[in-house]
Formats: sequence, C-alpha cells, structure tokens
Amino acid sequence: MIQCKTSKAISGMGHSMKRKEDIRFIQGRGHYVDDIKLDGMLYMDITRSPYAYAKIKNIDISEAMKVPGVVAVITGKDLEKYNLHWMPTIMSDTQMVLPTDTVMYQAQEVAAVIATSRYAARDGREAVKVEYEPMQALVDPFKAMDPSSPVLRTDKPGKTDNHIWHWEAGDKAKTEKVFSEAAVVVKEQMHIPRIHVSSIETCGCVADYDKINNHLTMYMTTQAPHVLRTVFALVAGHVGLTEEKIRVVSPDIGGGFGGKVPVYPGYVIAIAVSFLVGKPVKWIEDRSENLQADSFARDYHITAEMAGTKEGKILATRFKVLADHGYTDAAANPSKYPAGLFSIATGSYDYGTAFVEADAVYTNKPPGGVAYRCSFRVTEAVHAIERMTDRYALEIGKDPAQLRMDNFIKKEDFPWHSPTGWIYDSGDYHAGLQKAMDVVGYADLRKEQVEKRAKGELMGIGISTFTEIVGAGPSKDFDILGIKMFDSAEIRVHPTGKAIARFGTKSQGQGHETTYAQIIAEELGIPAENIQVEEGDTDTAPYGLGTYASRSTPTAGAAAAVAARKLRDKARKIAAYLLEVSEDDLEWEPGKFFVKGAPEKVKTIQELVFAAYTNFPQGMEAGFEATHYYDPPNLTFPSGAYICVVDIDKETGGIHVRRFVAIDDCGHIINPMIVQGQVHGGLTQGIAPAMYEELIYDEAGNILNGTLMDYLVPTAVESPKWETGHVVTPSPHHPIGAKGVGESPTVGSPPAIANAIIDALSPFGITHLDIPITPFKVWKALKEKGAYG
Ligand code: CDP
Repeated sequence: MIQCKTSKAISGMGHSMKRKEDIRFIQGRGHYVDDIKLDGMLYMDITRSPYAYAKIKNIDISEAMKVPGVVAVITGKDLEKYNLHWMPTIMSDTQMVLPTDTVMYQAQEVAAVIATSRYAARDGREAVKVEYEPMQALVDPFKAMDPSSPVLRTDKPGKTDNHIWHWEAGDKAKTEKVFSEAAVVVKEQMHIPRIHVSSIETCGCVADYDKINNHLTMYMTTQAPHVLRTVFALVAGHVGLTEEKIRVVSPDIGGGFGGKVPVYPGYVIAIAVSFLVGKPVKWIEDRSENLQADSFARDYHITAEMAGTKEGKILATRFKVLADHGYTDAAANPSKYPAGLFSIATGSYDYGTAFVEADAVYTNKPPGGVAYRCSFRVTEAVHAIERMTDRYALEIGKDPAQLRMDNFIKKEDFPWHSPTGWIYDSGDYHAGLQKAMDVVGYADLRKEQVEKRAKGELMGIGISTFTEIVGAGPSKDFDILGIKMFDSAEIRVHPTGKAIARFGTKSQGQGHETTYAQIIAEELGIPAENIQVEEGDTDTAPYGLGTYASRSTPTAGAAAAVAARKLRDKARKIAAYLLEVSEDDLEWEPGKFFVKGAPEKVKTIQELVFAAYTNFPQGMEAGFEATHYYDPPNLTFPSGAYICVVDIDKETGGIHVRRFVAIDDCGHIINPMIVQGQVHGGLTQGIAPAMYEELIYDEAGNILNGTLMDYLVPTAVESPKWETGHVVTPSPHHPIGAKGVGESPTVGSPPAIANAIIDALSPFGITHLDIPITPFKVWKALKEKGAYG
C-alpha cells in the first residue's frame, strides 16, 4: 500500500488518478496527424524498391503524370538539384532521402508521387516505371564482415569494408585471465532477432511551407520534436529554412516505442515537396510500409560466456556482439555509446570483471537499431546475462533462484560500481526475488515439476532478475548530435491558481498529462486536475530531447519537481511578507504555508499565487513562473524479478504460459494505475520477441513476413494473466526518488520465458534456443535430441 502525502483532492504522488487524456481518447476525440486537413493540401505516396540491392537504370514518370489528380513525381535527381537527396541520421551516419542511382534495401523509397487525393497518389505510385539492374544482396552480417565481401557503402569515399564501428567496455586482460583459470565456463551463441515496433499509428506528417513568410510548420509523429527541428534545420538550412523558421508540432501519438525517434525519408521528402510546390503535403505510411521500411530494433548476434566456480560463484562474463545495422546506422543511441547501454550486461550480480565488445556492420536491410521500448540495447544485454545465469546454474546443477540469491549485489553495497563502469543508484534484489518466489509459490512448483518429469510431462520455471538503466542522461556523457541529454519543464501558474506546464518530452500514450500534473501537485499542492500539461510544440515548449528509453520520469519528471520547488521558494517569500514573519518561521504542508505553532496563521498556495500578481514584496519579480533544465547527476537503475511457468505439449511443441509474476522496482511511484498499465503493455511486448516476432529475410534480401498476416503481434488472446507487484528502493539522486518504468517489463520478460522453456526441455540436453521460441523450434529441438524415439 502506497502512502500518499497529499489528499485525493490534490492527487499528488501515489494516487491512482484516472488519466486526464483518456477523456478524449476513449471518446475518439484524440487529434492525430492524419486528422489534420489544411486548405489546398496535397497527398504524397512513395514508390518503393522491390529489390534489396540494385542499380536504377531509369525512372519513367510519364504514365504516373497522366493519372488524374497527380501533380508531380519527385525523384532523387530532383532533390539532388537542391542538395536535399541525403540526410544525416541521429548516429551521425548518412541516409538517402531518395536515391539517384542505387537502392540498398527492399522497400526503400525510390520516388514520391504528389496528388490531390490519397487515392490518386496511390494510383500514381503504381504507374511509376522503374528499370532496375539487380545486384547480389549482402544479407548475412557475418558474410558482410568478411574482407572479401563487396563494399556496400560506395558513397563513402575511401571505405574499403562494411564495418561501421567497434566498441568495448570492461577489462579485457583481467577477464581473459579469470576465464583461463575458472573451474566452470559456459558459452552460448545467441541471436536477438530483428523486430519491429508496430505501433497502432504508423508514421506520417503534414509539411506546411508558407512561401510568403518563409516558414515551415511540420505536424508529425515524433517522440523528439525539438531534436527533429534541429535536424531539419541542418538538412534544409542552406535553402533558407533555418531553425527559427521551423515549427514542429507533434499532436497525439498512437504509440511510439522508439520507432518515432528517427528521421524517415518520407518526412524530408514531404518538406521538400511543400517547399517546392508551396502547398501543404500530407504523407501517411500504410501498415506494410511501416513494417517493411521503418527502422527496426535488435538484430544482435551475441557470443555469451560466463565463468564461475563449481559451487556457484559467478567470476566473470564476456560478451561479443555483431550488430546488423542494415544499410545505415540510423539507431537512436547517445553519440558516445554506439552499442547503446549494452554494457549493463553484468546485470544484478556481484562479480569482479567483465569484457563486452561490439562490432557493427552494413547489410542490405532497412536501417535502424531503434531503442524499441528498450533503453538503448538493454533488452539484448539482459537477455544475454539472464540466459547465461540459467545456463551456468544448469551446468553445475544448482537451483537458478538460489544461484541468483547467492550472487546478487547486496542492498547495502549501493551505490554499486559495476565492472563495466556504471554506478547503480539503489536496489534490493534479494527482496524482489523473494517476493516473486512467494507470490508464485516457487518451492511447490519445483516439487510439481519433479512429479511431472517422472510422468514424462514438460513443465518449466524461468527466472529473470534484471537491472535496467534509464534516464539518459548526465550531460557529461550523453548527447545526441552533440546536444546534451537534459530535459526541461516550464510551469506558469495563473493569478487564479491554475497552471499550465510545458515539457520538452512527448507522450505517446504513457499518460504524461496526468503524471506530470501529479508531480507538480505534490510539490505545490495545486490540485493535479487544475494543472494543464502540454508537450510537443517547439514554438511553446522549452527545448528537450524527447521521450524514449524511459527517460521522461528521470529527466523531465525531475525538471517538473525542481521547477515547482523554485515556485514554492517564491511562495514562501510571499507568505513571509503577507504573514509578517521570517521565512524560517514558516512550515509547509501540501497546499499551504502556516506559522510554526500558530496553524491559524495560514496562506494557501492559491492566495500566494494571487499575491504574486497583486501584492508582492518590493523588489520581487512579479508573476509565478519557473523553468528548469534538468541535467541528471546519474542514470536511474530500475530492476525486476520475474518468474514464468510454462507447460509444453511434447507432441506438438505447443507452449502454454501458465503463470507470469512480475515484481518491479521503479523507486517511488507517481501513479500506481499507470505503472501497472505500463507493466502489462511491456510484458506483452516481451512475449512478442520471446515467442512470436521476428522479421525474416531470404538470401536476396526479400522480407518474408512483411505483413501482419505473417508477423504475429501478440494480442490479449496470446497474453497470459500478468501478476504484478513492487518493491520500492527510491533513487537517491532523483528529486522525487523515482526511476523509469516503461521499458523494464519488455527488457526483463523475454529471458524469463526463454529460461522457462529451456528449463522444461533441459532433461533432453537442450541448453539454449534462440528467441522467438516457436512450437516448431521446440518440436525440432526435441526431435534432434531423440525425444520421439
Ligand atoms: O519516458 P516514458 O514516459 O516512456 O517512460 P517512464 O518515465 O518510465 O514513464 C512511463 C509512465 O509511467 C509515465 O506516465 C510516468 O509518469 C509513469 N511513472 C510513474 O507513475 N512512476 C514511476 N516511478 C515511473 C513512471
């Protein structure tokens, strides 16, 4: 039970206040980018490449131009005249807006058709005739790394291979020594598959260029409006579209999950067309385009090793990664961390040394590496460490829960310095796992498993006790394109005591309009109901880096608290003036200052705000407004203890998730109902890669499951009943002791499921299967091990 310091009327932290934004969402009154209709608006559709790698011999637009309603067809050559045919990616790589001579992946943009209706644009798109000369695609990242393979990025002068970058963390020599001397070493080769965000709303925009005023308003589905404004200014500054002439507006967003952080060519083409034609241009992806061409997530090939004693003490880990980035590195990582925060891969365990290295490679696949509900590669890291922990337990015949208990970092050892350089802020891993074990009935389940095994039945129990890392980040280490990763809040309280607060982040369904209001309500005592939260308009909001990787609570949430505290300090000064006492004689209770020992001498926050406009001390600045740009001193380190129970049908390989218990620690909770919703959604996005989702390409680079008929996004039907709970270890450096939560369940659940399945199959000598673990994979593995005689 969470103790709240404020009344329900104020609804500060800890109240399960109903989401303010739901009033419009559940009545179908949300305002999304496709709802925007402007006078004279044109529609854009995009002709895409059927080949993964081909030379463009010719583009014939004559038939397309005859389609009624088509007003223009734009190719790379048209953009080249204005030097708009290339753009930077967020990882400082380069990406074609439209190609002039070569296509690099299937579904790449080749030409844009502009018409007076969406239907005409689609008909025009079909009528564009492109003559290609197909080339042998490079799809396998290991082959692409081979020095004898052809170089894909011939646009980069002097490039002699397909290697993008090498990155490492930890102590290589020390780790090698521990491995060479260890009694037990376990090793697995694993692939974390390429998956897609598949948010309900696809990407899109309306680019509205006003020729008279040389001003662009860009309505778009972006999680990071300010950063994109800066990128657009970098791309188009040379044609006069400098940053003060650009306004980015991100209206309601139907799910982002990292997929709406990158700059997609469609956005830039729409801007270019609006700029050239002088009319608003709308571009909305269809579902297949979204699935086939947008930035992907994951695609990490990991060689994972763990060294330990025979008794079960972990001594070291070593992880070697090959990261398939497709044709360009369009990941959304902080600049200094090309492999994101993968080096959190030492997990929740106390051991002395680790070495982590990653190499990235170009292939003929769509670009990406987006942080799909995973704080920059943490899902990959957690999968590796949690799978290897179970693998080690299996090797030495020790219960995986006990092995974890014996190796956890102790709660008194925080702040914990990890061997790869992170400083974990707080946690109580023993309490989390114990709670999960109590809820699931761990000891009884193990007894049941013994009985079932005796009868030849397959039942598995899988554990994942993970540490997350969210809240990028301290500006000394974290930037995107050089812009430091702070975030911002601006609070304006009107004379009548009602407020508007604006943020540099952007909700995509997480409930910021409610939870940010609750943070301010907690600090100022103004009812959350009376605090209007606004995000997503670069003309009004203070500059911020946006919402992804669970950074909003650790950064903008903190900014809100600090800005509110600045206002409380001002309110204290006004109260001292009005009550004619010294500031030190005042006491604060949510919503009012009163004189110590004389509670009848009181001024409410509403009275104090009114006085800030009507009766303030001489020399004080009028008004009641504050802005704060928060630079976090460290990241926050949420954690979780998840236990999954599966039953497997031996004959078919069918997997039934019987129980799933998730105990999370996200520090102080702002809104328990919203957190539970975040955890439910995240867990469902965790069973997705664990059991269902994977984008599959053939040797020619054709995507084999590019529609939702073949790419299974789990629904309520596939989801088990989630059993959730919490332990609370507040972040000591965060103003309200909160840590992020949105990603934890997606990060922590895949290995719990994989570990449960492998636990069920382990009597047959099966030690690892790559996710997604499908019934066919299970059946095949059992067959190979002779389970069917
Ligand atoms: O950056 P993003 O908003 O996606 O992730 P987050 O910071 O993990 O927050 C997701 C939602 O959960 C937001 O509405 C937060 O305010 C809420 N939350 C909370 O109520 N308590 C926490 N300790 C953490 C997040």
